[in-house]
Amino acid sequence: MFRKRIVLVVALLVLLVFFCTLQHLQGYLPAIERLPKTNQDVEEAIYEELSRLPESYSRDALQLNSAERFLSNIKRTGRWGLESVPLQQLWAEANSWPSDSQLTNLSSALMGRILYSLGHARITKADLDTRGTQLKILLTLMGEQECVFKPKWYPIEKSIEGPVYAGKDRYGSEIVGFYLSVLLDKPFVPASVERTISLKYDVLPVATNRLLNVSLEKENRSCVFGQCFYCSKEDPICDNEGNLLTGAVIFNVRKSFSSYRSPWQRTYKKRKKAAWEDSVDYCSAVKTRLHKKRLLDLIDVAIFDFLLQNGDRHHYETLDDNIVWLDNGKGLGNPYVQHLDILAPLYQCCLIRKKMWQVLLSLAGGALSKYMKLMPDIQNVLTEPHLRAMEQRLRLVFATVEFCKGRHDMRIFDRFCHKSGHFEFAPNTSR
Ligand SMILES: *[C@@H]1O[C@H](CO)[C@@H](O)[C@H](O)[C@H]1NC(C)=O
Ligand SMILES: *[C@@H]1O[C@H](CO)[C@@H](O)[C@H](O)[C@H]1NC(C)=O
Ligand SMILES: *[C@@H]1O[C@H](CO)[C@@H](O)[C@H](O)[C@H]1NC(C)=O
Repeated sequence: MFRKRIVLVVALLVLLVFFCTLQHLQGYLPAIERLPKTNQDVEEAIYEELSRLPESYSRDALQLNSAERFLSNIKRTGRWGLESVPLQQLWAEANSWPSDSQLTNLSSALMGRILYSLGHARITKADLDTRGTQLKILLTLMGEQECVFKPKWYPIEKSIEGPVYAGKDRYGSEIVGFYLSVLLDKPFVPASVERTISLKYDVLPVATNRLLNVSLEKENRSCVFGQCFYCSKEDPICDNEGNLLTGAVIFNVRKSFSSYRSPWQRTYKKRKKAAWEDSVDYCSAVKTRLHKKRLLDLIDVAIFDFLLQNGDRHHYETLDDNIVWLDNGKGLGNPYVQHLDILAPLYQCCLIRKKMWQVLLSLAGGALSKYMKLMPDIQNVLTEPHLRAMEQRLRLVFATVEFCKGRHDMRIFDRFCHKSGHFEFAPNTSR
């Protein structure tokens, strides 16, 4: 009897120890499993962070001084009119902007009139623009200012299916990209406006021979098919029945840029993965090749591209060693998909500039939408679903930083000074 009781107690103890150990292991094992081994794991972990994003990322929207200044400068245009400043003077101002720290001066009091003039100044010459892979027309506006015209191929409600780089340029993406650069307080996007022109009446009468050579008439409408990788006679862009064509007019910056292949370039092949897609540790290889300023520039532009869904930055351009944000026409494709891999530079390197981080925080809580909606004629180029998608992506950027804080030694760079061509960095440990 006595023995039986001991056996029972020992058996119970063994069971208890067994269950405790099991409990402990259960708490422990999944944590090991969840350590991200692939970019897929990383993206899942970021979505997990998104589901428990701290409240601090949704507090009330702040006032954005840079955006307020931009908007008040634009509002002045109507009051003062176009004629009050000669076009030559406006273009001279806009051409004085590009420097080692900016492409545009977002605080310029003449910004409104420059945008207005891009949208209204008479077209004096039209030429082929053979840069890039998509159809573009190079327009010269009165006062001898060149700009690039990218036509509207799709209604803005159209959702582009397929890979992130699918489809033709979205003219609205160039314009929203410009506004987004205002909100991010990053003056690296050339001024872009919506404009409706007439190929028949505004463009072809002043076209060069090489542009006329790639134009045709289809069902009584004037069309241009251009000369580029994706251009073809079978797929021209045409005036509508009213002889009008809408598109984006983009200020053509008169500077020569250096072009580099992006370390996060895609293969553009379904079955072939790029090195960055195959390794979570890709950034350590990039760090050996690029100096930190360039890396932080690439992370800034990755965040911009992610918010806009511009997943086609196979090359990037620099001016005086700064990355400029040119060619943003592949954004706003599908508002119901988030291409988190555009953020790979951020989640693989876990570095961000302090200024970029602070600006992103100031866009939280609805400020992004609030200010985007205040931008001129925004409803023509940005739909509600796309705006909601941008808000969601902003939260995904926050979730990515939370992921980095948890998994890595997230580094936020406070300062860099230009000293005889090299840069010094001070990580801000206080965050
Ligand atoms: C931008 O324009 C403002 C207003 O005209 C001027 O005060 C400022 O110096 C300019 N900044 C740069 C960097 O050109
Ligand atoms: C005219 O366009 C065709 C393509 O349609 C091109 O092959 C040819 O070189 C062009 N000619 C000139 C003079 O630009
Ligand atoms: C094109 O215009 C001509 C002259 O205005 C007209 O006779 C013809 O029917 C039109 N063709 C089409 C396809 O609209």
